[in-house]
This record gives sequence, structure tokens and C-alpha cells, in this order.
Amino acid sequence: MTLTLNSPLDMHLHVRDNDMLKTVVHLSTYSFAGAIIMPNLVPPITTIKALKAYKQRILSSTCKDDFEPLMTLFFKSDYDYEFLKEAKKYISAIKLYPSGVTTNSLDGVSSMDVEKLRGTLEAMSELEIPLLVHGETSGFVMDREKEFCSIYEQFAINFPNLKIVMEHITTAQSVALLDRYENLYATITLHHLLITLDDVIGGMLKPHLFCKPIAKRVEDKEELLRVALSAYPKVMFGSDSAPHPKDKKECCGCAAGVFTAPIVLQVLTQLFEKYDKLENLQAFVSDNAQKIYNFKPLNKKVTLEKKEFIVPNSYGSVVPMFAGEKLLWSIKGVL
Ligand code: DOR
Ligand code: ZN
Repeated sequence: MTLTLNSPLDMHLHVRDNDMLKTVVHLSTYSFAGAIIMPNLVPPITTIKALKAYKQRILSSTCKDDFEPLMTLFFKSDYDYEFLKEAKKYISAIKLYPSGVTTNSLDGVSSMDVEKLRGTLEAMSELEIPLLVHGETSGFVMDREKEFCSIYEQFAINFPNLKIVMEHITTAQSVALLDRYENLYATITLHHLLITLDDVIGGMLKPHLFCKPIAKRVEDKEELLRVALSAYPKVMFGSDSAPHPKDKKECCGCAAGVFTAPIVLQVLTQLFEKYDKLENLQAFVSDNAQKIYNFKPLNKKVTLEKKEFIVPNSYGSVVPMFAGEKLLWSIKGVL
């Protein structure tokens, strides 16, 4: 049994830089036609010069795969219209992080007050640059995304022409917002479709499943699955594959991030097959994103076959999700 996907897209990906970039990037560029590249390097990508240089480093590490890195800038509230007009030629979106909510986000915004962000957000709206948001407050960890919903609503109401993507949503409340505001969209990761907080801390602590936002409750996961599996047009796949070296995960002070890049398509296929929804996988991994971002990806056909694949224990210094485990599907070839 085989399944062919046309131009899969990963709409939220961390490929890092330097040695880590070389270790991980080809795992995505082999099987994806493009990916939204996160800008949370140290220092974050805030200039066109840094953005172009980073894109070049990514392209020169990709073994000539057909792959388009869709670049993003790290949101700053003092970007002006002229800068953004020039930046628009090179970017697909701008990513907003509240300061300190996750890895390398200290340079993010310290106040989510709409008036303080209005200048940049109005310019982005006029220039049709999508806003991607890491939507978490600094509240109690299980409530951070829920508390952020009122901020999403303010953004959606104040900037009705701005496309806003709620990144890596984990709660039923975020799913509910999608029906209420035309200009809100969302990415969903593989791991949030599979795990709850129980899998992370309910038994022995699983550092490789620790990420931001933390996985939530069964009822939240069910809502994410409902929209992902049903070809609901406002959600798209974004892995948030976030590699960290093993010694930064298996230690006191574990870094947040699940590394899924090498296994996402195989496991998504397994998941959609389990729910008898294989016909809707194409929408989730590519078609919805093409419509939301209004772009045509490179042509790439990825064929998966129902054949066992044993996940390696590590890729360089990075431990993938399902390390050492057997998957039911593998990648047969890419054209
Ligand atoms: O778990 C996460 N890891 N969540 C994020 O938002 C950032 C990411 C990273 O960069 O490691
Ligand atoms: Zn991320």
C-alpha cells in the first residue's frame, strides 16, 4: 500500500544554525517542498541582511533538494513601514514572541498592549504580511494559551485585514476562535495531535516530549484531531520540530522542543490511517497552507509505503520523537 503527497509543507520549523543546521535541515528538505523557517536564532533575525545570509546558509546545507525556505523576521514593535516594504520582498511572515515565553525569545515584546504594537501591525496589514504568534502569557503553565485567547481576539478585531496565524495551538479554546474570526488561522504540530501532559509527566519524566506550549488535556487533543483530520481549511501542519542536543534535554533545566523532522510524514500517515481519514492528509500537509498563504510551492511528490521503519536513536546529538521505535509507514521515494 502506498500514498503519494503533493508538495508537503511544514509551516513552522526550527532548523537552527551552524553544525545543528547541517545535522537537521536535510531531514526536512528531503521530504518537504518548503517550510516556514523560525527566526529565533541568537541573536534573532531582525534585519534583511541577516535574513538573506541565513537563507543562503540554509540553501547551501540542503544537498540540492528542491526546497523553498519561507523566511520570517522576528517581530519588533519599532519596525517602520519603509523597512517592512523592503522586507516583504524576502519574507513570508513575521513571528511575534512575547518576551521570555520560550527558547530564544528574550528579545520578544514585553507588552501585548495593542496600542504599543499598532504601528508595526498596521503596516503589516497594509503590506499583507502575515503575523505568526507564539500565543502564551506568563501565567500558570496549563492556562497560558487559554489566557492568550483574549489577546488573539484583540488582534483579530483591531486588524481585520491582517492574517494572523496562532502557532502550534494546543487547546480547545484556540480551536473555537477559528470559527469566530475570519482572519485567524492556526498551525498544529504532530506531537500535539499525539500526546497529552500525561505522556510528558504522568509517569517517568519524558524530557524529549517537553515543549512550549506544553501538551494539554485529552479533550484539547481531541479538538485538535477533529480539525486536523477533517480537512478544516483554517488549520495547517507546522511541525515545530525543535532540535536541541541530547545533553540540553537530558539534564536539569531541560530545553523545550520536540524533534520530529525525520518522522513527521510517516507518523501523520499512520495517524490519518488509524482514523480512516487518509483522504484528508493532503489538505492538512499542503493544500490548506497554500490557500492561507496564497502561494504555489515547488512541485514535489512524496510517496510513502506501508513498510516498517525503525526510528534511529539519534541524528548527530539530537534524539527524535519515537527514537528506537517501529513506525508502520516509511518514505519510499521523492520525485
Ligand atoms: O518547544 C518549543 N521549542 N517551543 C517553542 O516555541 C520554541 C522551540 C525552540 O525554539 O526550541
Ligand atoms: Zn516553534
